[in-house]
Amino acid sequence: MLNIVVFVSGGGTNLQALIDACEQGKIKNGKIAAVLSSNAKAYALTRAKKHGIPYKVISRKACVNAQEHTQKVLSFLEEVQADLIVLAGFMSILSKEVTDLYAYKIINIHPSLIPSFCGNGFYGLKVHQAALNYGVKVTGATVHFVNEITDGGAIILQKPVFVHRNDTAEILQKRVMEQAEWDILPKAVSLFCESKLQIVNNHVIVEEE
Ligand code: GRF
Repeated sequence: MLNIVVFVSGGGTNLQALIDACEQGKIKNGKIAAVLSSNAKAYALTRAKKHGIPYKVISRKACVNAQEHTQKVLSFLEEVQADLIVLAGFMSILSKEVTDLYAYKIINIHPSLIPSFCGNGFYGLKVHQAALNYGVKVTGATVHFVNEITDGGAIILQKPVFVHRNDTAEILQKRVMEQAEWDILPKAVSLFCESKLQIVNNHVIVEEE
């Protein structure tokens, strides 16, 4: 049984999708061992408490420098014996030391079809506003491995979502979360825990069902 650690900063709806998937037996060979939040006020912590999941707050602002933050994160990961780290709306930057140490063991959910509308400055509603400004007809969500490049790691799963004529960024965000994020994130976590993800030349091959 692998130890999954979920990193959060906000509402935690992706954390909730993972909690629900675990409780429905959809994530074989994995359990959420702990939640790490960058924000003490994150509603995601309320969700963790409700389900009896241990949690810890590590605020980057409360650290003297990035090195202290990295040390706190690494000792926490050792303490909970993390096998898989899932970034679910996590807004702090992880240092290259962390992403190297946990290479191909950190996954992130991004609310667009990478390589569109991703990288520095593309997060939350800004991603969806950029998609609307560009006039794309299809957007969606991507689950990918995390490396030292923001949103640059190998893609694991993607799911398309059509843009509707009267969409606002808020409406589009909600649809992308409901129809894509909350579906492919638990699926990707389950594939990882069942060792169904193969890495070849920094590309991910998903073992067929
Ligand atoms: C989601 O849109 C996710 O794609 C992005 O941040 C948001 C977090 O939402 N990374 P939540 O905290 O999981 O509700």
